[in-house]
Amino acid sequence: MLRAVSGSVADSWSGASYERLAETFAPIHARVVAALAIEPGMRVLDAACGTGGVALRMARAGADVVGIDISADQLAKARLAAEAEALAIRLDEGDCQDLPYADAEFDAVASAFGAIFAFDQVRTAAELARVCRSGGRLAMTAWPQDAWSELHAKAGRTFPHDVDAREWSKEGHVRSLLGGTFDLELHTGSWRLEAASGDALWELVSSSMPPLRAWLAEQDDEARAHAERVYREFLEPGVLEREYVLILGTRR
Ligand SMILES: C[S@@+](CC[C@H](N)C(=O)[O-])C[C@H]1O[C@@H](n2cnc3c(N)ncnc32)[C@H](O)[C@@H]1O
Repeated sequence: MLRAVSGSVADSWSGASYERLAETFAPIHARVVAALAIEPGMRVLDAACGTGGVALRMARAGADVVGIDISADQLAKARLAAEAEALAIRLDEGDCQDLPYADAEFDAVASAFGAIFAFDQVRTAAELARVCRSGGRLAMTAWPQDAWSELHAKAGRTFPHDVDAREWSKEGHVRSLLGGTFDLELHTGSWRLEAASGDALWELVSSSMPPLRAWLAEQDDEARAHAERVYREFLEPGVLEREYVLILGTRR
């Protein structure tokens, strides 16, 4: 029988080896940071920072960085990574839909494949705008609807909410969310995940994509076997390639 993930949102983003996947986002993280033109002393936010891929880069560039994430597990890994490089990053446990920061507190706001997962998109967009100062910059990334995202339904995967993160890849939707507060530009890019074999890629994907891992763990044997067959067949070539959307904004 198919079941949606029943734990909390934070639980569904915890317990996986997400840092392995995050390594493969390094070029995207670098692009986000470059787009924000980070300079020493800027006060910047990495919203839904995960294991800190963007936050660490901004700190290395000399910024005064705050990262926030709903998962304590992800934050613990970000903290270790920051400590290993002696980077002073403030890491807060919290929700992008209700940021615990003052109006206009940040010179730049980043969110790589992060804030898109918050359920209330209108509220999340309003929070990102609220904490960014006038003239400040925003850089976010989002996944579109593609062969990979459509595979979840074929695998029988269900989601515990109705809001679709892929909406953040659609220009009209992004403009309706952020166009009132930011001057916007949308760009695209590509991401490629490659492993030595289809089996190795499935091992990586099923252990390092937190919501997929959490969902698989909750399925009975029959449902899990069906999902594995569907995902493995798709990943058989040992390569997963996706386009992504980069949303850039300047706060009015
Ligand atoms: C795909 S990961 C991206 C992490 C990081 N930004 C990166 O690029 O590696 C998504 C992150 O969003 C976080 N997240 C999901 N919903 C959230 C919310 N409502 N508020 C804050 N963080 C959230 C998850 O815990 C997870 O760390």
